Amino acid sequence: MQDVTDLRFWRLLGRYGHADAYVTEYIRVYPHSRVDKDIRQDILLNDTGCPVIAQIAGEDVPSLARIAEGLQSLPVAGIDLNLGCPAQVVCRKHVGGALLKDLSKVDEILAALRARITKVPFSVKCRLGYETASDFEKLLELFSRRRVDWVTVHGRTVRQGYGGRADWDAILRAAESLNCPVVGNGDISDPVQAARMLEETRLSGLMIGRGAVRNPWIFRQIRQARDGEPVTLPTGREVLTYLYAIKEMTSIVEHSRGESAHVERSKKFLNFIGAGISGEFLYRTRRARTWTEMEAAWKQYLDMERPYSLIPEG
Ligand SMILES: Cc1cc2nc3c(=O)[nH]c(=O)nc-3n(C[C@H](O)[C@H](O)[C@H](O)COP(=O)(O)O)c2cc1C
Repeated sequence: MQDVTDLRFWRLLGRYGHADAYVTEYIRVYPHSRVDKDIRQDILLNDTGCPVIAQIAGEDVPSLARIAEGLQSLPVAGIDLNLGCPAQVVCRKHVGGALLKDLSKVDEILAALRARITKVPFSVKCRLGYETASDFEKLLELFSRRRVDWVTVHGRTVRQGYGGRADWDAILRAAESLNCPVVGNGDISDPVQAARMLEETRLSGLMIGRGAVRNPWIFRQIRQARDGEPVTLPTGREVLTYLYAIKEMTSIVEHSRGESAHVERSKKFLNFIGAGISGEFLYRTRRARTWTEMEAAWKQYLDMERPYSLIPEG
């Protein structure tokens, strides 16, 4: 996730139970571009013990092929093409989710990347379509035809952004129809439901974004549920310790820019966490301008032994 899930965050997740693998923030690809140096460092310095997959986003076919070729000399466990990002800055350039408007272009990119990615698996991360999901089956056919190694489906259209609910029926249909492994993505926050999904469907895996920022215990909890063990919930104080770890982690980049820049940076994480804590926690943290205000809100809601599921209401 852009601006959120970098090596520092993967390391932090390790305190609570790593994921099986991580995906980098997308590497923006265009003529003469190079692999973003921070992302390159994350790949090179990855000491989490977990495989890292490099994600690329672009529309210029020779550039995508060139970058994919180069990435294979780095310690990556795969290369993933972004066919889902809904951000306007990306879509305006016909990149990410905007590519779903033009399936012949998608086909051209898939063919070029399939030919160039030979040393590691080649995967795609897609949404159901751009405006609607009417071409989703055609998109899946392209993935089969171009022998993509695995596919992650986020069960929303690009137009939906992050609104509404992810359409899990569509994700499960994709898992039934494709011959390659399919990973489901969108709104996963309940570890018991997630474990059941892995057990009862043809899905090969789950990708968790916001849910892992909100609840970094989620990977361990899913394993507990899968193994029939009770799911252990963090206490308020443990969540509080996680928030202090985020403060510490974000200080490394933002400290020199002053307190308010640092507070704002931490909100990239807190906005997701706040959705799992009821009451006015989110309201208070969003309005905090200083660490004194921020920490007062944290303590009011979390300085207690009560367990937190961190599952958003509704
Ligand atoms: C702040 C933010 C940044 C994201 N950056 C990326 C990205 O770089 N690449 C990508 O494939 N998806 C990105 N996503 C989408 C997530 O990977 C995921 O598909 C989406 O949030 C739905 O899953 P979730 O409900 O588990 O978060 C981003 C989402 C958010 C909210």
